[in-house]
Amino acid sequence: MTEIVKIIYGDKEYQLPVIVGTEGEKAIDISNLRAQSGLITLDTGYGNTGSCTSAITFMDGEKGILRYRGIPVEQLAEQSTFKETAYLLVHGRLPTQQELTDFSVMLNDNSLVHEDMRAFYENFPRSSHPMGILSSMANALRSFYPELHNLEEEINITVTRLLSKTRTMAAMSYKISRGHKMVYPRPDLAYCANFLNMMFDSPVRPYEVDEDVVKALNVFWILHADHEQNCSTSAVRMVGSAKVNLYAAISAGIAALWGPLHGGANQAVIEMLSDIAANKNMDSAIKRAKDKNDSFRLMGFGHRVYKTFDPRMKIMKKMCDTLLDKLRISDPLLDVAKELENIALNDDYFIEHNLYPNVDFYAGIVLRAIGIPTNMFTVMFAIGRLPGWIAQWKESQDDPNWKLCRPRQIYTGPPTTDYLPIEKR
Ligand code: CMC
Repeated sequence: MTEIVKIIYGDKEYQLPVIVGTEGEKAIDISNLRAQSGLITLDTGYGNTGSCTSAITFMDGEKGILRYRGIPVEQLAEQSTFKETAYLLVHGRLPTQQELTDFSVMLNDNSLVHEDMRAFYENFPRSSHPMGILSSMANALRSFYPELHNLEEEINITVTRLLSKTRTMAAMSYKISRGHKMVYPRPDLAYCANFLNMMFDSPVRPYEVDEDVVKALNVFWILHADHEQNCSTSAVRMVGSAKVNLYAAISAGIAALWGPLHGGANQAVIEMLSDIAANKNMDSAIKRAKDKNDSFRLMGFGHRVYKTFDPRMKIMKKMCDTLLDKLRISDPLLDVAKELENIALNDDYFIEHNLYPNVDFYAGIVLRAIGIPTNMFTVMFAIGRLPGWIAQWKESQDDPNWKLCRPRQIYTGPPTTDYLPIEKR
């Protein structure tokens, strides 16, 4: 039986149904609230608002749970590959061997980028941030490839094209930024190894695929593959709701992810740890983070949903230790990170505010060990998040009840004011 919430406003009572998810989470369905009562709800930052129902990702911020299509992220990180996880998110289930092979063939067939796109890369100012370039290039893809008309086959090709070409474009931007010749994708290499080869192969130093690094990159991207209705995913859904093409919606997602409160935090963490290491100012960093009058925050700490350890952080931290060990790398920033985590976790401010390290806290150290330059960290996050954005976009487009996203507001500006001609102002 559907539960009901009653709202009493003035002399009227309104009954609103309660929606229950498959994991028992509940929401008041206010779809008819305004029509019935003239009221809207106000929820700045959407902390209490469900923007959709979704069958893709489940997370429980109190218990630290994250599952894609029901499968715990821990199991996927241990046993799956990024390619398979991407298939799972986009298609809703794990692929059969044949489906996975077909998917690999499609990724390979779509891995080249139109040669004319090089002209764009070459003409961005050298100091451009790779996220700005990636967002522009994702949007530019629409000019090179046809509009989607929502046929299943077209969607599959566009999805594969995006997954494959974004990876090529990211490596391409790195090579061009260094003034080096771009390395083309290779048909004999799987998704992650291919990316690493495009990044690091050079005529003077051929790249040798290292399976430990490939495994680490698979795990890194699996951990970033989806995170339900976060800022960038909501941007993809919202922009997509205007029925723009998928490339434009993804471009919006990349732009949103760039922000330091979201995906840009992985770069900000390394900058913060480097500053602490160089200036030996850990105590003052902690002090500043707790000071209400200082806008400084501990980057890589806190989360809108997780009020305990981010399960992705636990896997990332373990992988960070394993990878550095295997590659025999000693990164002083890892010591700084561990010390900072330890101090923060025992500090009353962080305990009372439920602030725990999030996925970005150790992510940068993993990426540094792989050899990724700091300004490309958020690009790495973006490649990983692509399957999630695409799956969420696809789900919204397939949803018969999905509408143009158009929130309302409570106006707080001046009342009607007469126009004053310029000579009288
Ligand atoms: N350092 C110090 N204080 C913090 C931090 C932090 N990292 N994060 C939150 N707080 C405090 C904040 O000052 C506020 O204190 P008070 O209630 O006394 O005024 C309280 O905690 C709640 O903060 P909020 O900004 O209202 O909480 P939120 O849910 O909007 O914040 C957040 C989520 C991720 C924006 C925030 O924790 C933050 O800025 N963290 C640092 C940036 C970061 O690491 N972002 C990556 C998030 S994980 C990757 C992803 O999925 O995007």
